[in-house]
Amino acid sequence: QVIYLNGKYVSKEDATVSVYDHGFLYGDGIFEGIRLYNGNIFKCKEHLDRLYDSAKSIMLEIPISQEEMQQVLVETIRKNELANGYIRLVVSRGPGDLGLDPRRSPKANIIIIVEQLSIYPEEAYINGLKTVSVSTRRNVPDALNPKIKSLNYLNNILVKIQANLAGVGEAIMLNSQGYVAEGSSDNIFIIKRGVVFTPPCYCGALEGITRAAIIEICEKVGYKVKEEPFTLHDVYVADEVFFTGTAAEVIAVREVDARTIGEGKAGPITTHLLKEFRKLVD
Ligand code: PDD
Repeated sequence: QVIYLNGKYVSKEDATVSVYDHGFLYGDGIFEGIRLYNGNIFKCKEHLDRLYDSAKSIMLEIPISQEEMQQVLVETIRKNELANGYIRLVVSRGPGDLGLDPRRSPKANIIIIVEQLSIYPEEAYINGLKTVSVSTRRNVPDALNPKIKSLNYLNNILVKIQANLAGVGEAIMLNSQGYVAEGSSDNIFIIKRGVVFTPPCYCGALEGITRAAIIEICEKVGYKVKEEPFTLHDVYVADEVFFTGTAAEVIAVREVDARTIGEGKAGPITTHLLKEFRKLVD
């Protein structure tokens, strides 16, 4: 395995950064998770656009251009000789001093890791996941804008811990007003009477790239999509519920807080959308 680190290709053992890196000390940085399907980087431009937008928003200067970043991605994949996998692209503020002033971290760290992906078994896509709602809240709109894909994932990690304690694979996070926001690392959709709903990003959802791809597929194949706020009640009584994300793709939910969703397995529209999504990437 070869890892890109600030212009060099190094082994996993040699891929290290300073303990003074503000990504480590303060979660000061941004990242992307990107899929590689059959040698193609899925939605490369969209991921890089989001990365550079996140960087601009937090005033983090990425030392290479977006075009150079794309070339470096391609080269890292080539060196790893993988056709299918998961790419983690991280840009941290870089090493500084112990104060949090980013002016003391003049040089960002760029890291690209390409790995094989171990995700849910195929059975989970057919039978769906059990999930619970958790008490951890997505703090919007007062704190960090959810559109920034920052290294501050403590909220999401607390959601994951609550999911683990409940013995389920993914959980549902609400925002501080009680509206459904997203999962720990996935966007959420519900379906009621043939209409597909997903929370608008201002409810505390990342502007997911898989989410956008699914909205586009819905429009193409003729499902009505509404981006509007909804509550847990709407989730409980939905005909179908699913999550979307780079790693998970489109994964059905069969149970939320002990309420069975639909028939208790992936419903027809979810299954159709997963099929259409896989057509895009195959
Ligand atoms: N997840 N919401 C959060 C909080 C996320 O971290 C992610 C991405 C998503 C889905 O976004 P996208 O479809 O752009 O991946 C939503 C990780 C990094 C992943 O799935 O790889």
